[in-house]
Amino acid sequence: MEALQGRHILGMDDLSRQDISKILALAKKFKTCASTSKNLPPLLTGKTIVNLFFEPSTRTRSSFEIAAKRLGATSINITGAGSSTVKGETLIDTARNIEAMNPDAIIIRHSSSGAPYVLSQTLKTPIINAGDGFHEHPTQALLDLFTIEEAKGKIAGLKVLIVGDIAHSRVARSNIYGLKKMGAHIIVCGPPTLIPPAMTKLGVEVSYDLKSSVQKADVIMMLRIQEERQDRIQFPSKKEYVQYFGLNSETLKLAKKDVIIMHPGPLNRGIEISPDVADGPYSVILNQVTNGVVVRMALLSLLLGREQHAAAH
Ligand code: CP
Repeated sequence: MEALQGRHILGMDDLSRQDISKILALAKKFKTCASTSKNLPPLLTGKTIVNLFFEPSTRTRSSFEIAAKRLGATSINITGAGSSTVKGETLIDTARNIEAMNPDAIIIRHSSSGAPYVLSQTLKTPIINAGDGFHEHPTQALLDLFTIEEAKGKIAGLKVLIVGDIAHSRVARSNIYGLKKMGAHIIVCGPPTLIPPAMTKLGVEVSYDLKSSVQKADVIMMLRIQEERQDRIQFPSKKEYVQYFGLNSETLKLAKKDVIIMHPGPLNRGIEISPDVADGPYSVILNQVTNGVVVRMALLSLLLGREQHAAAH
């Protein structure tokens, strides 16, 4: 098994089942430390992490920053609008200039699928993909896997239903790769125009009927419609979308009694999920956000070479 130390993290496609298990196990240790108020080890003291975000973010950017700081690292944020790309500098030049200041990792979010891969071909500094176009969002999938395991005690054998705009969702793609590696059964559900035909080749069950899918699921993951990634909306109307693919308390009555409801955020309340479901007893949406910090702490520790020290805590 290749060590995680020094690697680029471009997608769940590149991580083995063992890599994923190692990250989740260390995240669990960090969560126990935090919940028992045991001091967190300063595993990243002296390290510098750069968050380079060309798209908006509430959760991912702040949780990477909190994760780095909780372990003693310095973290700086650069936004696309605040960078010299607005003066015509290329992404590669921007990244090479950041690398010249010797950071220990660069975390990038970009609207172009493949942007982190391009940087990984040029830079030696580890690159972490924080979401690229509609390609991948690996740390979201890792925190989703952690949250599922925490709530259900396992991942293998569970039926995970992913509902909505599968075609434009990097969260769906990363979760499909990750969940499959961990042995879950995946059902994707949405309008036919938002489910790519290649889905079945990934070994995923495809459904166009929310109600029958909800009955089978142990985990329901709702997705936002990615309007910013569509030339035109690919279904007749939002009203119709809500009617057929929005999750509300009526539809939830069909679900298993121990189902959990997930959403990566940001929520469009009243579209893909009704407020009472988002805030209701089955929702683990804010647990996902909480878990994002410990999962990113684990990933940064393993990547930045303190694996043995991390494991010892
Ligand atoms: N889930 C997620 O990526 O949220 P942000 O866009 O707020 O980072």
